[in-house]
Amino acid sequence: MSQDLFKNAQELLEKVQAFATESKDELERFRIDILGSKGKVRQLFGGMKAIEADKRKEFGQLANAVKQAAETKLSEIRELIEDKADETIKVPDMFIPVNQQGMGSRHPLAVVMNQMIDIFTRIGFVIEEGPEIETDWYNFTALNTPENHPARDMQDTFYINRMTDPAMLLRTHTSAAQSRVMKDRKPPIRIIVPGRVYRNETISARAHCQFHQVEGLYIDEGVSFADLKQTLLYFAREMFGEHTNIQLRPSFFPFTEPSAEMDVSCFVCDAKGCAICKHTGWVEILGCGMVDPKVLENCGIDSEKYTGFAFGIGIERTTMLRYKVDDIRLMFENDARFLRQFSSTL
Ligand code: PHE
Repeated sequence: MSQDLFKNAQELLEKVQAFATESKDELERFRIDILGSKGKVRQLFGGMKAIEADKRKEFGQLANAVKQAAETKLSEIRELIEDKADETIKVPDMFIPVNQQGMGSRHPLAVVMNQMIDIFTRIGFVIEEGPEIETDWYNFTALNTPENHPARDMQDTFYINRMTDPAMLLRTHTSAAQSRVMKDRKPPIRIIVPGRVYRNETISARAHCQFHQVEGLYIDEGVSFADLKQTLLYFAREMFGEHTNIQLRPSFFPFTEPSAEMDVSCFVCDAKGCAICKHTGWVEILGCGMVDPKVLENCGIDSEKYTGFAFGIGIERTTMLRYKVDDIRLMFENDARFLRQFSSTL
């Protein structure tokens, strides 16, 4: 009799030790079955009376071992199941709304520069680039502005090294690339040069030591001032709207003759007069002229055969007028609050 009880208890111990589940419900059934108030452990202790006195202690120990094993099993499996539950929480919820990362946007200067490139390439101008670190010769001498010429004072220059021959400087205008192209190539030449230029100016709301220009140059047989005017009118209407008018005022540049500055009718007030056009109805946006024959000769182009025109458009100026920005420094500060306003422009 007691042998059967021992055997049962031993089997129960093994069963308990071997028990495994991943289900909470099954675990609960196991708990009730083994440790519950009417469970198997209770029954074991209840059966003690039937055991011979000298074996009771041993049986008691066995029953305790079953109880202990069941309790250990229970807490082990509980922990496992809870860990699993934790893991499911760690899986990211794909449907939680996220903070949207703002889309990047082009810088307003790039927007306007790209528009200018688009307008001129449409009528056959090709893009050229020149170095920002330039020689004195290309920036000045070739362009009819030799050393000690008073016109050099028109542009305050950052010299990198004045002692070298030729002297090195940061180009003061994209016209420097004009001389390079004229020297390297034969007409017909029809190019635009978008790029950055530098001048030793005190930084203020109106002036900066770096800014951008788009240079234009067209050289061929029989190019006239009328061609220049028509090209610029086309540009102005494409850029600022089809009702835009232009006016050319006589001016001076050492490398063009005749020279002019071009105003466009104010597109902010429709030429009625406002703060931006200083109540004149006109805003100035570029310098231009017929390439001086001396410049053509300096660069090895026959000035008897060829004529040409050139222009240089200020990109900051155009951008500021276009978007009514009244401080040029904003263009270079990379303040996200400023730049974000252009995120809808591509
Ligand atoms: N390079 C001149 C400037 O920076 C602009 C210009 C370009 C004028 C071409 C005439 C012809 O002011």
